Amino acid sequence: MSEDDKERTVELHYEGGVLKLPVFTGTEGERTIELKTLLGSTGMTTLDPGFSNTASCSSKITYIDGDAGILRYRGYPIEDLAVGATFLEVAYLVIYGELPGPDQLKDFSDKLRENADIPADMGTLIDAMPRNGHPMALMASAVNTLAAYYDDSVDPGDEDQVELATIRLLAKLPTIAARIYRNSIGEKPISPDSSLDYVDNFIRMTFGDTHADSELGDLFNQAVGMLLVLHADHELNCSTATVRVVGSSKADIYASVASGLNALSGPSHGGANQAVLEMLEQIRDSGISIEDFLERVKAREMRLMGFGHRVYKNFDPRSKEIKVLASQILDRDDNPDELFALALKLEAAALADPYFTERKLYPNVDFYTGVIYRTMGFPNNMFTALFAIGRLPGWVAHYREQLHDPAFRIARPRQHYVGASERRLPGLE
Ligand code: ACO
Repeated sequence: MSEDDKERTVELHYEGGVLKLPVFTGTEGERTIELKTLLGSTGMTTLDPGFSNTASCSSKITYIDGDAGILRYRGYPIEDLAVGATFLEVAYLVIYGELPGPDQLKDFSDKLRENADIPADMGTLIDAMPRNGHPMALMASAVNTLAAYYDDSVDPGDEDQVELATIRLLAKLPTIAARIYRNSIGEKPISPDSSLDYVDNFIRMTFGDTHADSELGDLFNQAVGMLLVLHADHELNCSTATVRVVGSSKADIYASVASGLNALSGPSHGGANQAVLEMLEQIRDSGISIEDFLERVKAREMRLMGFGHRVYKNFDPRSKEIKVLASQILDRDDNPDELFALALKLEAAALADPYFTERKLYPNVDFYTGVIYRTMGFPNNMFTALFAIGRLPGWVAHYREQLHDPAFRIARPRQHYVGASERRLPGLE
C-alpha cells in the first residue's frame, strides 16, 4: 500500500448503509478495490464469472497492460528479453526476481544439468503409459509422480525442499516430455547429455542428432529458446491460477504444477496452439475459402483459434515476436510454407473484418507457434507440451511467491446459489 492509498477509498451504498472500501494503487498506477470486509460488513458477496474483474493476489512477477499490448517479466519488456536473454536467464529472473550474474547462472545451469535424469523406475512407468496418449495427460501424470519419487522435497514449509523441487522440476520436465515423444514414435529414449545447454539438450533428447551442426538446426534451437522465453510467465492465466489454487491448500509443488499442466491442456488455453494447426489443416484439406470459414466463425459454429484473449484487447506482444520468427523460419526463400501462408491470409482477413476488430480480437501467442513447431518436426499433440516447458518457471515462481505472501489464505471462492430451496423427500413431507 502506498502513502496515497491510506486516504483512498470507494463507497459502496447498499440497503444496510455505506461501506468504505480501501483502494490500492499498483506500480503502474492500476487501481484495485480491496473487498476483504465486504461479506462480514454487508452479508453480500460479489459475482464475477471467470474472475475477469478479480485480483486474487498481489504479485511482483509479471505486468501486463492488455490495452497497450505490454508484457514485462520483473519489469523487463518481453521484446528485450526475447532477443537479449536466454531461457535459463529468464527462468532465473522469473523465479528469483533478478537476472542472474555469471556465477549464479553457471550454478543454476549446472544444477539443472546434474538433475536432468529421471529415476529408472519412473522411465519404466512412463514407458508403460499408453504410447498414443496425449502428451499433456502423460506429462501431468508423470509430474504428479515426482512427489512420490522425491518425497524429500514435498514440504512447502521448508524453503530448502521447495528449492530442491524447483530444480528437479525444471531439470526433468524436458526429459519427461522428450521421452513421451520418443515413445509415441516407437523410438528408444535418449538420455540427457550434461555437456549440452538446456534447450539443445531437450532438442537432442527429442530428435537425436538429426539437425545437429546444421544452419537450420541452430536456427531451430534459437527459435525454441525464444519461444520458451515468450511463454515463461503470463501472470494469473488459467493454469497459473490453478497452480496457486492447488498450492494454497499447502499441496506440494509437484502436485500443483501437475494441476497447472492439466489446466494448460484445454483448447481455450495452451491447447489452442494444437487447435490452430488443426484448424489450418482443416481449411486447407476441405478447400473452404477463408471468407466462408470466417462466416462460419461469425455464425458461432466455431471459434477462430489463436485469436482473442481475456486480457489483451490489442495485439498480444508475444504474437508479434512469434510472427517475425515464423517468417524467418517459414519464408526463408520467399517461398512461404503452405500453412504459414494460409495463417497470414486468415489473420489479414480477420483483422479486416469488423466482427473481430469490434470485439478486439487479435492474434494471440498461439496463432503462429504451431506452424513453427510443425516445421521443426514436432507433431501437433506435442505443441502444448512445449508451451508447458516454457511456462514452468512462471508456475514455480507463483507457487513460491504465494508461500511468502502475508495475505495468503486457502483459495476458497463463494458462490451465488440459485438452486432449489429446501424440500423433503417424497413420503417424508
Ligand atoms: N473467435 C470468434 N469469436 C470470438 C473469439 C474467437 N477466437 N474469441 C472471442 N470471441 C467473441 C465471443 O463470441 C464474444 O462475442 P459476443 O460478445 O458477441 O458474444 C466476444 O468475442 C467475447 O468473448 P469471450 O468468450 O467473452 O472472451 P473471453 O475473454 O472469455 O475468452 C478466449 C478469451 C478464451 C481466449 C477466447 O478469445 C477464445 O476462445 N479464443 C480462441 C481460443 C484461443 O486461442 N485460446 C488461447 C488464448 S491464449 C492462451 O491461453 C495461451
